[in-house]
Amino acid sequence: MANLRESPEIDAQFYQPAEAFFSAHRGLALTFDDVTLATLYSDILPRDTQLDTTLAEGLNLNIPVISADMDTVTESRMAIAMALNGGLGLLHYNMPEKQQLSEVSRVKCHVHGLIQEPIKVSPDQLIGDVLKMVEDRKFEFRTFPVVEASGRLLGLLPGHVVKQRYAKRKVSEALTPRDQVHTIAKREIAKDPIARADRFFTDHPGIHKLLVVDDDDKLHGLFTMSDVERITQEKKAQFKPARDAQFRLVCGAAVSATRNMFGELDRDRIVNHVGALVERGTDVVAVSTAHGFSRGVGETVRMIRDAFPSLPLIAGNVTSAAGVEFLAESGANAIKVGQGPGSICTTRVVAGVGVPQLTALYVCSRVAEAKRVIVIADGGITKSGDVVKALTLAQAVICGGVFAGTPESPGQILEINGQLYKQYRGMGSLAAMKAGSAARYGHSTSAAAKVAPEGVEALKEATGSVDAVLTQLIGGIQSGMGYLGAVNLAQLRSKARYIRVSPAGMREAETHDVVEVKTG
Ligand code: XMP
Repeated sequence: MANLRESPEIDAQFYQPAEAFFSAHRGLALTFDDVTLATLYSDILPRDTQLDTTLAEGLNLNIPVISADMDTVTESRMAIAMALNGGLGLLHYNMPEKQQLSEVSRVKCHVHGLIQEPIKVSPDQLIGDVLKMVEDRKFEFRTFPVVEASGRLLGLLPGHVVKQRYAKRKVSEALTPRDQVHTIAKREIAKDPIARADRFFTDHPGIHKLLVVDDDDKLHGLFTMSDVERITQEKKAQFKPARDAQFRLVCGAAVSATRNMFGELDRDRIVNHVGALVERGTDVVAVSTAHGFSRGVGETVRMIRDAFPSLPLIAGNVTSAAGVEFLAESGANAIKVGQGPGSICTTRVVAGVGVPQLTALYVCSRVAEAKRVIVIADGGITKSGDVVKALTLAQAVICGGVFAGTPESPGQILEINGQLYKQYRGMGSLAAMKAGSAARYGHSTSAAAKVAPEGVEALKEATGSVDAVLTQLIGGIQSGMGYLGAVNLAQLRSKARYIRVSPAGMREAETHDVVEVKTG
């Protein structure tokens, strides 16, 4: 009997590996909907697939999904949600540099387990001042340890007294005194801090904060029950949060090839800002531009690489093998591929330039390995099937539109005729360029009004949370891998077999000839 796992010749003739397929279609630029992937023998269940990916040495993600560095997509809230799900958020740079640093800090300080430097208040402060600090710094908590100048613990200011009504009172009048505050000695938590804190909260119903003190009663940290619970639950999750060596969430930040008033690259400003980002704990910096195969971008990548030899660096965007080689030789670890596929992009219409995404990914991926860089597919993804196709040629994907409607993206919800939307705009749209992103498109912010925009301002329907969106996306990737018998992303890349789809085939792929009924 023939071995069922050996493909008959006919399969090989129709369902081709990347090399044969894209070479046969040389001269025709293809994108996601132009192709489909053939199923293969599988003994892999979707739930058993592994989605971890490495962007650079020491920078691993547990899912290969990154949120775009766009001002209507990724600020700290999105970056936190992405990292908690095992991915990465790239903070955009359409904001003052100082603000971008604060955004990084918000991500890196999110859930420490043990918060080593909790925000403290002093006994002489007015509650009104504490309230102002909460508002100015947008804290989502209101309970603060009270310490004297030497660092000795005096008590805890409970959240229920941090109210306008008590604004004129001093902290010392409203605090819970030291002898009623639950603490643990620093030496007691040395072995496994989270397990010890978890046990404490189980043993003390109703107590949500545990302060860590040394033998002199000086404050050394704070556990909150919600952090500890989240970390304990994470241990059971299939895709764990993406964390650095110090157990902080990973975070990326985008920078541009900033120029000074004479039009020269502003070396000091770029290097100083990247230095400050690194100091705050940024795990990866992305030099994000529309045209990565250009002198200014190459020089920017080179100057960052020289100043920070081991910093993981993403650079882009390109759509040619020469572009990949250029950025790799300049010092990038990961190359963003995509010019014009984005849902809000008009580069191909306005400039007549760019390459449909799947062909661009194929061409770029052919030289990436030899140059020891990885490829990130940036833009054009609207459904999980697109991600599966992109991951047959790239090690990760960047999505903008997919996340723009979530509550975690910046911006307000708008209601139009009873439907809820969020704003989503291209970084090359006039409004975004005026707000600062002009350098990404090779223009100065002051001249932005006079140039042709390469993106539009749009609306996205409001969606569920990043968790909900990622559950669907990840479920789809795992299904795709199950159909191909790929247990990990390396196998997905090597096993993929492609075939073109006719327009009728595309229509057949979507639901047809039914009236769809929504359930759940
Ligand atoms: P999606 O399809 O995920 O695309 O919404 C997000 C990606 O699109 C790129 N981008 C732009 N490209 N003009 C462009 O040609 C623009 O104004 C623009 N803004 C963003 C970017 O690579 C992003 O990750």
